[in-house]
Order: sequence, then structure tokens, then C-alpha cells
Amino acid sequence: MQQRPGMALNVVMLGPPGAGKGTQAERFARTHGLSKISTGDILREAVHVGTKLGCAARETMDRGELVGDDVMIGIVGERLDRPDTAPGFVLDGFPRTVPQAVALDDMMRSRGPLVVVDIVVPEDVLMRRLAARRICGSCGINASIEWTSACGSCGGQLVTRTDDEDGVVRERLKVYHRQTRPIVEFYAGRPTFRHIDGNQPPDVVTEALSVAIREASLVPAPVKMTPGAAL
Ligand code: AP5
Repeated sequence: MQQRPGMALNVVMLGPPGAGKGTQAERFARTHGLSKISTGDILREAVHVGTKLGCAARETMDRGELVGDDVMIGIVGERLDRPDTAPGFVLDGFPRTVPQAVALDDMMRSRGPLVVVDIVVPEDVLMRRLAARRICGSCGINASIEWTSACGSCGGQLVTRTDDEDGVVRERLKVYHRQTRPIVEFYAGRPTFRHIDGNQPPDVVTEALSVAIREASLVPAPVKMTPGAAL
């Protein structure tokens, strides 16, 4: 992908539960050689392994609520300090609150702009997608429709994600509207923000995202004026 020379490609995927953030973040990161950072995956892995973080986060996630901002900001801050993120990254699931978005802006000082894409999908479609989703109980990836009984990647058993139960999905959607939707307004005025129609076949969404991110990443950075500098 063409982007401004020397600039990292820092992408944030926003959208409600089931919008396709994880699916599209994985595709975009893979095809562009970037690291995908999914806070949901990091937390599920911690729950699976039984770390202190996992034990603390488990009940919150199973209720469909959000893990505390300080914990999440700490996790993402440490992750973005690793050298693999120097050429850029794709963030899936973070930020999710205004304080997380403010903290991310702080982390981005001197790292180049963020390209923020908001994947939009009607609520009835989200409910249907999450009710139908199966994941691998071993490696955690979303199951493809052609996998009938076992994970096509590692052979693990396909299971329902614990927070995809109907009542929990409804709570996740309420939490999204209350705590996460306000960050769409937080980013909406920026020239590197784009909405994407996520209610289309996955390949069509992938192409639309790719075009939107390419276009947004070419927006010239704002000129920083030094006080007293000659015009
Ligand atoms: P997280 O894992 O981030 O869950 P989420 O935001 O609810 O998103 P999902 O993974 O359900 O959906 P998605 O948009 O990634 O869609 P996907 O591609 O999987 O977070 C889980 C929990 O962790 C949170 O509830 C919270 O407790 C905690 N947490 C995480 N980050 C946090 C943070 N920053 N702060 C605080 N707490 C945090 O697709 C969904 C399904 O749809 C799949 O089956 C897929 O195959 C299918 N699909 C995808 N695209 C399409 C398409 N175009 N057409 C048809 N089907 C599609």
C-alpha cells in the first residue's frame, strides 16, 4: 500500500460487537505485514492460561462489561512499546472509552497519525452473527463456515464464546452504546477518520477498508507552526 514515505501505518478498527473488527484487522494486518493487537484476544488468552489478569478479567467479560481503563491502557502501552509495532499496527478492541482514546493519543506522540475506521452494521445483523459464531476452544480463532466439527487451523473443538450468549450480547451492545460509541464522536472530526459499511460480504468489506485506509493515510499531516516562525 502506498503511504506517505517514512510514516508508520497506525490503524484503529472501531465498531460494535460482531461488526467484523477482528476478521478485518487480521486480514489487513496479514496483507500489510503489520502486527494486529486485539485486546479481546489478549484478555481471552490470559483467561485461558489463568494468569492474574485473566482471573481478574473473566467475570467482567462474562457479564459483557468492560475491563478497567487503567488495566487496558497499561496492556496496550506495553504492547506498543515492542519493536514490531515500529512500522505500524492494527488495533482491534482498543480504545473502547474516551479515557482510553485520550491515552492512545498520548502514546502516539511522535509516532505518526492514527487512521481510524468505524465499521457500521445494523443491530439485528450483529445479533444474528454473534448467535451463529463458533470459535476454536484451543486456539481461539473464529470458525469459518466450512468448518463443521473441528478447527481448520489446529484441530481443536469448536465451541460458543462465553460472552455470545443472548443476554450477554444484549449487555455488550448496551455497553457499546454507553461507553464506546462516544469515541466515534471523539474521532469524527479528524481527516484520517472513515466510516465503512460492514453489512456486506467479508471480501467486499476488506476491499472498502483497504481503499479507505489508503486514502486516509495519504492525508497530509497538519503543519506544526513554531511561534514567531517566518511564514
Ligand atoms: P472483543 O473480543 O473485542 O469483543 P467485541 O468488541 O465484542 O467484538 P467481537 O469479537 O464480538 O466482534 P468483532 O467486531 O471483532 O467481529 P468478528 O470479526 O469477530 O472484547 C471482548 C471483551 O473483552 C469485552 O466485552 C470486554 O469485556 C473486554 N475488552 C476487550 N477490549 C477491551 C478494552 N479496550 N477495554 C475494556 N475491556 C475490553 O466477527 C463476528 C462474527 O461475524 C464472526 O463469526 C465472523 O465470522 C462474522 N463476520 C465478520 N464479518 C462478517 C461479514 N462481513 N459478513 C458476515 N459475517 C461476518
